[in-house]
Amino acid sequence: MAIISSKKQPQEPNQERPEYRKSPKETAGDKSLQQPSEDSKLLQPEADIDEKGKQEESIRPQRFADYIGQKDLKDVLDIAIKAAKLRGEVLDHLLLYGPPGLGKTTMAMILASEMGVNYKITSAPALERPRDIVGLLVNLQPGDVLFIDEIHRLSRMSEEILYPAMEDFRLDITVGKGPSARTRSLPLSKFTLVGATTRVGALTSPLRDRFGLVQKLRFYEVDELSQIVLRTANLLNTGITTGGAEEVARRSRGTPRIANRLLKRVRDYAEVKKIEEVDETLAGEALQLFQVDPCGLDWTDRRMLSVIIEQFNGGPVGLETIAATTGEDTQTIEEVYEPYLMQIGYLSRTSRGRIATPAAYQHLGFKPPTQQLSLL
Ligand code: ADE
Repeated sequence: MAIISSKKQPQEPNQERPEYRKSPKETAGDKSLQQPSEDSKLLQPEADIDEKGKQEESIRPQRFADYIGQKDLKDVLDIAIKAAKLRGEVLDHLLLYGPPGLGKTTMAMILASEMGVNYKITSAPALERPRDIVGLLVNLQPGDVLFIDEIHRLSRMSEEILYPAMEDFRLDITVGKGPSARTRSLPLSKFTLVGATTRVGALTSPLRDRFGLVQKLRFYEVDELSQIVLRTANLLNTGITTGGAEEVARRSRGTPRIANRLLKRVRDYAEVKKIEEVDETLAGEALQLFQVDPCGLDWTDRRMLSVIIEQFNGGPVGLETIAATTGEDTQTIEEVYEPYLMQIGYLSRTSRGRIATPAAYQHLGFKPPTQQLSLL
């Protein structure tokens, strides 16, 4: 049973470049729209393999008091924890959903530590065979938090084993085959399941309905990300000014995992340049070197928007077309790219397809269409 413990020389913001780009030729010559090279993972919200080690654990907040942002979610969980403690019961099962990199795993760990219980972390692809999930469930201790990442990917059989386990803390196993097959029930320790998903719509309703709490994680504001950068810099012994932290935060796509990753690249840059304190200028310089756009857009974001603008007059454009022109799969576009572009108001999703907003035109240096210009 597997238990896991656990891009491009950007343009400066548009106000600094008032001239509008018009022809596709010019766009083709723009470095920011060329295919990315090596470090295109810098802005990906998924954890890299080297982001699951000891250093990551040392910067992960351990208690709600250290956890910056997600105030609404923290308030809900704080009440649920206090109520469960008062009643001497386990916490209700909790489903956390939202884009990757926003702290779903961290939240589950904090939940366990606030409840004073142990946690086990796994992910649905590691629970392919029924015996994987059975092994996990029978080994749970009273009160344990079981975290299953990517829970929308559970196999049907594993999911069906989970139903009575979640509802009645019971394991129903079938012994034998054919007409002589019998179902036996085994009692399980009372536990809390924390499921995490980037695709809440992909969960079956019987599974979703068994969670007492269903909560969304939202993108972080720049000031929250700045505080996270300052906190991480402190833990890493990196000198940084508030302005430096804000510069990193602005380019982090509302995502703490990206903010901490960019901070480490900026720290490398400062160390090599023998500069003791990272300020706004140095952070901007470093991130420009690593080809991170001032708004945190990468090559695929810019390609998506420029295709919609240049080839489809601003849209609407179908998801499949966007996928074909960027070389990304539709799922990654829907789950990773679009949520952030919509969050910053560069993209609208309509029933007829995707539309680039006037803000996207401006950011990429295109002249917004006249009827949209009046909306600015
Ligand atoms: N590191 C990553 N996410 C964090 C958060 N939400 N608060 C504090 N530090 C973090």
